[in-house]
Amino acid sequence: MKRRKFLKKSSLSTAGILSAPVLASCKSEPKTETAISPTKTIKPIVICTWNFLNASAKAWEVLSNSGSSLDAVEAGVMVEEADVNNQTVGVGGRPDREGRVTLDACIMDKDANCGAVLCMENIAHPISVARKVMEETPHVILAGKGAELFAYQQGFEKTNLLTEQSKKEWEEWKKTSKYETIINIENHDTIGMLAIDENGDIAGACTTSGMGYKMAGRVGDSPIIGAGLFVDNEVGGATATGVGEEVVRTVGSFLIVELMRQGKSPQEACEEGVRRIMKKNEGREDFQIGFIAVNKKGETGGYCVHPGFTYREYSEKGHENKSVESFYQS
Ligand code: GLY
Repeated sequence: MKRRKFLKKSSLSTAGILSAPVLASCKSEPKTETAISPTKTIKPIVICTWNFLNASAKAWEVLSNSGSSLDAVEAGVMVEEADVNNQTVGVGGRPDREGRVTLDACIMDKDANCGAVLCMENIAHPISVARKVMEETPHVILAGKGAELFAYQQGFEKTNLLTEQSKKEWEEWKKTSKYETIINIENHDTIGMLAIDENGDIAGACTTSGMGYKMAGRVGDSPIIGAGLFVDNEVGGATATGVGEEVVRTVGSFLIVELMRQGKSPQEACEEGVRRIMKKNEGREDFQIGFIAVNKKGETGGYCVHPGFTYREYSEKGHENKSVESFYQS
């Protein structure tokens, strides 16, 4: 499998406090914090996993027009959901091993309202259905056919999510896979996005087609509040990407927000979240996990471990190991 191409490091600058979006900056070293004065709060600001430039530009457009962080994160991640060339989110996502594209998403606002859809087919924008679950129902999660039915009731159109490209690749996969579910490292480019608006309110969104060629019905961390995403408007927000099973086990995003509550910076909290997962998987080197976080002051952090990097190496070499790089965009 082709190794993921990660964002090259450059200096973070003063992301998010400029009047124009700073789209291509990411952290230079994992321990380098966003430099702000102790009293100054950076807002508005938006960060997202990976190098989804168009998504963060869209969110920034909303924020810079005085839009809410909730509107910003929804609009931002919708860009990736609509991109047929992104095979890990929305339309064009890789199917499960039966050839069905099933989508997961969740959203959370400043008042701890949240909504999620799990394993939903035929709807191009699961994040918007998740928002409808949050705003129009007494529930937090709708799954499968129920989520799809609800989406139609809310006016969403039926859409074929399986593109020719994804179908062709799935057919190739079937020839050699023996139908085995492999924890594949290249299929976890979940978009998680966190934003603070000009009122200082935080919201987050997370959306994915999940692990490529997963077992039918499999759901990862991305639509699970606390795992793939968590926001506490008093403290900050966090969101995850990578092998969802590992993030669920540690309730990763909630953990990171709680670590920030206890005084850790977003960067320290993300590093600790990754460290805990690696410790539980000593000797294993076949997975990828990443978190990004923002605190109430607008300080940001991000940390990712890549395949081929064991806990032992992590403990011994720490940040010197090239497999650990910052990977988020602001
Ligand atoms: N993090 C995406 C998934 O595991 O489904």
